[in-house]
Amino acid sequence: MPFSIIRNDITKVSADAIVNAANSSLLGGGGVDGAIHRAAGPELLAECRTLGGCRTGEAKATKGYRLPCKYVIHTVGPVWEGGGKDERRLLYSCYKNSLALALELGCESIAFPLISAGVYGYPKAEAISVAAEAVSEFLDANEMEVTLVLFDKAAYTISSELYQNITAYIDDKYAESRDDSKSRLAAGNRFLRGFDRRLFKAKSAMADEALEDQAAPAMEPMLMGAAANASLESYISARDESFSQSLLRLIDERGLTDAQTYRKANIDRKLFSKIRSDVNYKPKKQTALAFAIALELDFDETLSLLSKAGYTLSDSLKFDLIIKYFIQNKSYDIFEINRALFAFDQTLIGC
Ligand code: APR
Repeated sequence: MPFSIIRNDITKVSADAIVNAANSSLLGGGGVDGAIHRAAGPELLAECRTLGGCRTGEAKATKGYRLPCKYVIHTVGPVWEGGGKDERRLLYSCYKNSLALALELGCESIAFPLISAGVYGYPKAEAISVAAEAVSEFLDANEMEVTLVLFDKAAYTISSELYQNITAYIDDKYAESRDDSKSRLAAGNRFLRGFDRRLFKAKSAMADEALEDQAAPAMEPMLMGAAANASLESYISARDESFSQSLLRLIDERGLTDAQTYRKANIDRKLFSKIRSDVNYKPKKQTALAFAIALELDFDETLSLLSKAGYTLSDSLKFDLIIKYFIQNKSYDIFEINRALFAFDQTLIGC
């Protein structure tokens, strides 16, 4: 997944580069800056002293020393002063310049903390949307595994209105599905009671006729078998198009390119090539859903694409209901959907 969001201590994350939310002196501090310096060891500070500081929005690299990374990219986020002091552009530059520097250094993976969202006071939801915007723009033109490392759940919020809407939607659907299952159970019990009565009647009728009947001719199952094989063959050969065939057809029908599709789906190119070249490829459910979102399929089209890989969406699974919520609201921003899934402790969609 080119852009993923995890909850961890960034000093525990292994990547070619990890990003430090530093201050302009680059001489260490608290928060993630302090954690990185502690984990890297004193050599990091010694190298930072040679850099001559760093301006807000810019980025400078050092080695990773005792950290599980080749480089630490130090960037200085803006202090939040209400939003009128160019904070968004400066924060965007932190991600953009750090990614460009990582590319220059030949990094294939990079991990970011939520820059400026701690001591510098940047509102977390906005800080996340700036990060998502900068990273997705970079991934439109480049390949790199980018991870946003959130230190605690509180750091990761979606708007409370969206959170409440999704919660209400889930509760409604749970209630509906519970009612459905209750009514299905009641219907099932009625059928079984009726079935028992019919079975009892059938048994007594059979008991009367059993004396005249001979055992059913043993050939029957054999004939059944041959006929069954023939129909199974034709049944399988008449099967519907595969997931891969459906996906490629839908991409063509929407006039999208492969690259546009897998980037919008937050799927890496290698996985897409595998799906394209193997007509029988069976993706994970999260991958199939990521393509449904990228293609902006409606609910029925999504069910149809999922079914080609043997999946469906159920009203009794929170993950499925959150996806259904976004599709029914025609909201196809995969980063927003992943933020919501993350906020509800669900698996993210993508590869
Ligand atoms: N791993 C990942 N994220 C972390 C960690 C960690 N070990 N520690 C803190 N964070 C998170 C915080 O929860 C916050 O969401 O990093 C985000 C950024 O918080 P800060 O570290 O306070 O950085 P910032 O808001 O950019 O302020 C920078 O703080 O530490 C000083 O020297 C630093 O002066 C600079 C200022």
